[in-house]
Amino acid sequence: MPDFKKLLMENAEAVNEALDKFFPMHDDPEGQLIEAMRYSTLDGGKRIRPFMVMASAGLFNVRQSSALRAAAAIEMVHCYSLVHDDLPAMDDDELRRGQPTCHIKFNEATAILAGDALLTKAFEVLSDEATHDDPKVRADLVLALARAAGAEGMVGGQMLDLVAEHHTLMIPEITRLQRMKTGMLIAVSCEAGAILGKATEGARHALHAFAHDLGLAFQIADDLLDVEGDENTVGKKTGKDIAAGKKTFVTLLGIERAREQAQMLADQAADHLEVFAEKADSLRQLADFVVKRRN
Ligand code: IPE
Ligand code: IPE
Ligand code: MG
Ligand code: MG
Ligand code: MG
Repeated sequence: MPDFKKLLMENAEAVNEALDKFFPMHDDPEGQLIEAMRYSTLDGGKRIRPFMVMASAGLFNVRQSSALRAAAAIEMVHCYSLVHDDLPAMDDDELRRGQPTCHIKFNEATAILAGDALLTKAFEVLSDEATHDDPKVRADLVLALARAAGAEGMVGGQMLDLVAEHHTLMIPEITRLQRMKTGMLIAVSCEAGAILGKATEGARHALHAFAHDLGLAFQIADDLLDVEGDENTVGKKTGKDIAAGKKTFVTLLGIERAREQAQMLADQAADHLEVFAEKADSLRQLADFVVKRRN
């Protein structure tokens, strides 16, 4: 297995262990909620955002246990976004990470509640003393994640994604949509290490710039997989974006130019890491993986 995939997998295992501990099973009548939360977080996923947290924390010698908590919290928000994204009122998908989506496995109400509970749990985890001794660091993490996840970030982007089904968008508008829907959660994942490590503004800015380009490259790669990917490898149904009237770089530019754009953005992202020299090599490898991935 190539070195980077091994690194990604090892990191994923550590994050899975952390996530597992946050959702202990119990027999109370509301136990189905925990089951749905576990189902939506523990089963698969590339764990790219947690990788970004761990790699950025590694630049600033952050305690592993702190970084893992932040990584798990951001993955919880990501998983919640997927559970809600798959609902019939949104993308109406039945397959996620190679398994039935949460609302198919359980039911719609449980999926909505599991998403709500994952979102809330993420902020509980970040604001807990165990995440960092310094309350200012915890508050900064909460603020950054709240901004990335809310109406000016992921949720706002999801709204635009729905509205755009009935409108023609040009590249600048699609770029804004993608940056909000996907890019901001990716950006906070890269900045989390800098926040935890009380890094300089310059270092945080460099990570933000890296993520700004990589987030867009990431969503273009996702949109390419929807057109070109194989359902068994991707783990979700393909060919859905065009059918639903989604506006993407691929629908506007075509496959070739969209692929070039993603590669250009990934290269540009890596250029922002120069200040960290070879310490940022795993983030450079990640940038390459993001555009070449098959799932
Ligand atoms: C899929 O994200 C949803 C997007 C924001 C494009 P990922 O491709 O990171 O999904 P998992 O976590 O690996 O399943
Ligand atoms: C979803 O984008 C982005 C989120 C905020 C969840 P997509 O709708 O393209 O993600 P997939 O393709 O279903 O994973
Ligand atoms: Mg969607
Ligand atoms: Mg979707
Ligand atoms: Mg997609």
